[in-house]
Amino acid sequence: MDWGLRNRLSRMIKPSDGHSVMLACDHGYFMGPTRRLEVPRRTFEPLVPYADALAVTRGVLRTSVDPTWEVPILLRVSGGTSVLHEDLSDEGLTVEMKDALRLNVSAVAISIFVGTAHEKQSLLNLAKLVDDGEDRGMPVMAITAVGKELEKRDARYLGLACRLAAEIGAHMVKTYYCEGFSKVVEGCPVPLVVAGGPKLNTEVDAFQLAHSALAEGAIGVDMGRNIWQNDHPVAMIKAIRAIVHEHASVREASDLFEQTKAASITA
Ligand code: R5P
Repeated sequence: MDWGLRNRLSRMIKPSDGHSVMLACDHGYFMGPTRRLEVPRRTFEPLVPYADALAVTRGVLRTSVDPTWEVPILLRVSGGTSVLHEDLSDEGLTVEMKDALRLNVSAVAISIFVGTAHEKQSLLNLAKLVDDGEDRGMPVMAITAVGKELEKRDARYLGLACRLAAEIGAHMVKTYYCEGFSKVVEGCPVPLVVAGGPKLNTEVDAFQLAHSALAEGAIGVDMGRNIWQNDHPVAMIKAIRAIVHEHASVREASDLFEQTKAASITA
């Protein structure tokens, strides 16, 4: 791996422990003004101090992220369909590598849709992005997207999708946590982070997800809705950060969440 690419990766994946808390705020690229991400800056500004990377599109980056912030940027570069379409897999590349470089981002992210009508197209998009990324020293994250078919999230499917992404050359993969997740990790020779998915019933469910993913080999999370759709998003990201970087148990994370929440209410 070339120096520039390693340097960019190490901005997001902390060299001290090899872990990362990425804050996912790119949902608008196909979902529009998602609940509690209607005004992106209002959502992520209080959370950025606790994030190792911020995942956004270039439009939100240019309009809503202060260029003096130190947070590394994970730039979403695939898109082309909206939530109004039944089939979300018909994506192309939405940003050229030269613009990602101009924006000085730390990595680019693209969805792949394994097993869909547009499987080949999305995998070839990934291959092109990896070629461009290797050429310019830009890490590429592949996201094993499932569109509206959330039930696809099992170890067999995710193991296949993650492995394909790594074989094509992705430098890291974002996937979902699932039962048997350690098998997914075992078959994927590049670092894996997990998405949170739609908001879970309780905070403890989100802490359990992050804790289990780390315990089974993920290097961190790229989590959105379970943080910023919570009534106490700062308390959420601090608790998730404790799991990822401080080996906090689910109980310790819950205690930290409650303490931070109580302090913010009395402040
Ligand atoms: C989808 O829009 C993106 O890939 C999200 O970044 C990803 O799903 C992670 O966000 P969440 O934790 O809300 O699922």
